[in-house]
Amino acid sequence: MPTTTQPTWWGDGVVYQVYPRSFADSDADGIGDFTGIRGRLPYLRDLGVDAVWLNPFYPSPQADQGYDVADYTGIEPDYGTLADFDAFLADAHELGLRVIIDIVANHCSSEHPLFRAALDAPAGSPARARFHFADGRGPAGERPPNNWRAMFGGPAWTRVADGQWYLHLFTPQQPDLNWRHPGTVAFFDDVLRVWLDRGVDGFRLDAAQGLFKHPDLPDADDPEIDERNGDALNPHAWNRPEVHTVYRHWRTIVDERERGDGVQRPLIGEVTGLGQLALPDYVGPDQLHQAFFFDFMVTPWDAAALRAVIERGLDLAATTGAPVTWVLGNHDMTRLATRMPGRALAATLLQLALPGAAYLYQGDELGLPEVLDLPPEARRDPLFRNTGGRRLGRDGCRVPIPWSGDRPPFGFSGTAGTWLPQPDWFTAHTVEAGLADPGSMLHAVRRALRLRRGLAGRPLRWLDAPPGVLAFERPAAVDAFRCVTNTTDEPVTLPDAGEPALASAPVTGGVLPGHCTTWWM
Ligand code: GLC
Repeated sequence: MPTTTQPTWWGDGVVYQVYPRSFADSDADGIGDFTGIRGRLPYLRDLGVDAVWLNPFYPSPQADQGYDVADYTGIEPDYGTLADFDAFLADAHELGLRVIIDIVANHCSSEHPLFRAALDAPAGSPARARFHFADGRGPAGERPPNNWRAMFGGPAWTRVADGQWYLHLFTPQQPDLNWRHPGTVAFFDDVLRVWLDRGVDGFRLDAAQGLFKHPDLPDADDPEIDERNGDALNPHAWNRPEVHTVYRHWRTIVDERERGDGVQRPLIGEVTGLGQLALPDYVGPDQLHQAFFFDFMVTPWDAAALRAVIERGLDLAATTGAPVTWVLGNHDMTRLATRMPGRALAATLLQLALPGAAYLYQGDELGLPEVLDLPPEARRDPLFRNTGGRRLGRDGCRVPIPWSGDRPPFGFSGTAGTWLPQPDWFTAHTVEAGLADPGSMLHAVRRALRLRRGLAGRPLRWLDAPPGVLAFERPAAVDAFRCVTNTTDEPVTLPDAGEPALASAPVTGGVLPGHCTTWWM
């Protein structure tokens, strides 16, 4: 079992997540695009990140904001052209930034030509065999083939004109592909190769615990309908052992490129639900390079709980050889600043002090809060729409980034009519405001990313600390780095402490205020 790994850009680096629809708009249609992102790349270079992960940017009806892919090798016209993508990629590489793209393999869009062909073909046809079509139950087949639930509300089956049903573990506009069909395997081999040929540096794999279903599509044992999780814990629908054959195979594809030019191109799995409980099955030298460690994100702000989850992450890395990916936010989660009011920076400095990779969701470096009061008619997330609004959904963390100025569109676009409306209070959270304020979260994160560069490859060693305080060092021959987090309300005095190199709140005379993280070099 590997216990140490050489530092790599993906294993020790900081990856910044760009949500293309909401990062920067160059053509005043209120929707982000590649030329817009390209224009903001110097900001990311100055921030000090190593790589960019792009959410899906492929042609899509946007039923699930791009996670319903209608063409896996094209560019959504709202975002530009392949030439715009190439220009973006070239600029990113020129600035020393790697680019990771999102591969959605569990399902495609109901507008994808393969699914259109399946709908046009009869029951039992080869075209339908690319998906999961089945006859219904009941005398006239009027009930779905089984009791599975969709992740975003409702049954996981939709009936088509001739009476058959098709499976979709997410929305009806996202039919699940049949991974037992050799055509599916060959199709995605081509997709990966097309993007590798274009020069991308890695792949984030969407819903990576999906792909295969139990061949008999049996009922889920727990008929309780859980609208929050859909069927995330249904072992017939998720985390099937067959999925690992795909990842072993994909690993050979990226490894083959690596043998050609010596450049590593990681596969990073979004492995949730049952899969998150089985992470060691997914990562390692012959499968995925990494999988998001989401447990850290949902751990309460409590020193003992944080220490336990950090130890678990590091153990996982030690036994699998896959560096931890520490995550505090993404396009599916309520924003960090709203989930952890008053301690977003403290949590981020803790994250950035840990051995492994760190993922930053766009805007979290600004301390941008969630927009909680989007009007119902403005909301786009199928999670909101398909649950009749019982679940607010994820739009509030996807509102376009405020760059500058004091009113919408805050430098995001040439129009105030952005695809999700920006609130007036964004004015306090613009990049411009952050840059102008030496005490801003943005400046602290920039500084942290610079200081962190010296930490790659160093182990973590816990230090004794009072209750409610988390302390560790990352020792090296030349200097000792220490990170101390106070998760309590009360100030804590550190004996013999000098001036911290970085602190999420002012520290004087070795006194750490409550809910504060400090770095000492
Ligand atoms: C992943 C994505 C999420 C998307 C879902 C379906 O969980 O992160 O945004 O809705 O997969 O593709």
